[in-house]
Amino acid sequence: MTVMKVQGKPTRTITPVPQAGAIDIIDQTALPQACRVLRLDSLEAVVEAICSMQVRGAPLIGVTAAYGVALALTSRADDATLLAAIRALGATRPTAVNLHWALARLQACLTPLPPPLRAEAAWLEADRIAEEDVQQCRRIGEHGLQLLRAQLGERGRIEIMTHCNAGWLATVDHGTALAPVYAAFDQGIDLHVWVSETRPRNQGLLTAWELHEHGVPHTLFADNAAGLLLARGSIDAVIVGADRIAANGDVANKIGTYLKALAARAASVPFYVAAPGSTIDFACANGTDIPIEERAADELRLLQGCDAAGRSAQLRQLAAEAAVANPAFDVTPASLVSAVISERGVCPASSDGLRALYPEKTHG
Ligand code: MRU
Repeated sequence: MTVMKVQGKPTRTITPVPQAGAIDIIDQTALPQACRVLRLDSLEAVVEAICSMQVRGAPLIGVTAAYGVALALTSRADDATLLAAIRALGATRPTAVNLHWALARLQACLTPLPPPLRAEAAWLEADRIAEEDVQQCRRIGEHGLQLLRAQLGERGRIEIMTHCNAGWLATVDHGTALAPVYAAFDQGIDLHVWVSETRPRNQGLLTAWELHEHGVPHTLFADNAAGLLLARGSIDAVIVGADRIAANGDVANKIGTYLKALAARAASVPFYVAAPGSTIDFACANGTDIPIEERAADELRLLQGCDAAGRSAQLRQLAAEAAVANPAFDVTPASLVSAVISERGVCPASSDGLRALYPEKTHG
């Protein structure tokens, strides 16, 4: 069942259309100005959609890549085609481990099959991954709701800060960090969300858009205001998503997350990370092993928006040759994370905590 709505209509971020040899996605580069559905009908289109962030967010990247394999195998499904598809999709974005997790799952499922059976099996496995994502995010919402309830203090309302977009747009439905927010809001708990703009790609605008569509009260703020908001007691809890959680509980997430964790610790505000099991990488011992994506410098040199007539437009704010650094993620040490919320429950951000939730995934 789809839960999230756009203008009152149940909507998922990705819809398979196997009879047309395609998938439909919401083009996130058009939001929040327009909610546009884009049809992707080839491996190349899927690769481009992930690289350009028409689809983004760790769980959704994994699901989209799984369908990308299915699309690649539609006309030919020999070993070489399968491996080339996995290689092309695996090279799109380095940090979110869900991408590599989904591709490894497709490879393990398809390689033993004779080529004529692979395309249909790929569609089915991608469907399973998508459906699991929905159910896992729903359960993250249920577990996180208990934590939020405990946060209801004297105000009688919970003030929540989030960063980037870890809502339903970053998954198939529900979201990760926003799943507890939606669950609490739907149960009538009085809450308000402080949404960090998240320069340079402004994923906070996506968060504000989806909260608006669901009717959740929220306020957008410039990233640099986070310290002040936390220090002056305006925030009861910070909840963010994750692109990869190392075996020791270190968390890679959108650039700027680490600064919020530091400010939250200084203000004694709990800092929660919500993510499904597919985001935990037990092969990464700690955060220094996590590859950090460096994105194009033009993301800082050019501003994206729309002009007075509402047409999408770019504004140059820096010369083409201006030196720019654009790391897209940072690593928050486990010591700054109050708890990890996954589909299996809530645990300390530590190797023991993660192992206790996922005993079958640990190496040794
Ligand atoms: O670069 P993006 O927009 O794909 O980065 C997304 C994030 O960092 C999210 O916080 C993370 O993927 C968690 S999504 C549920």
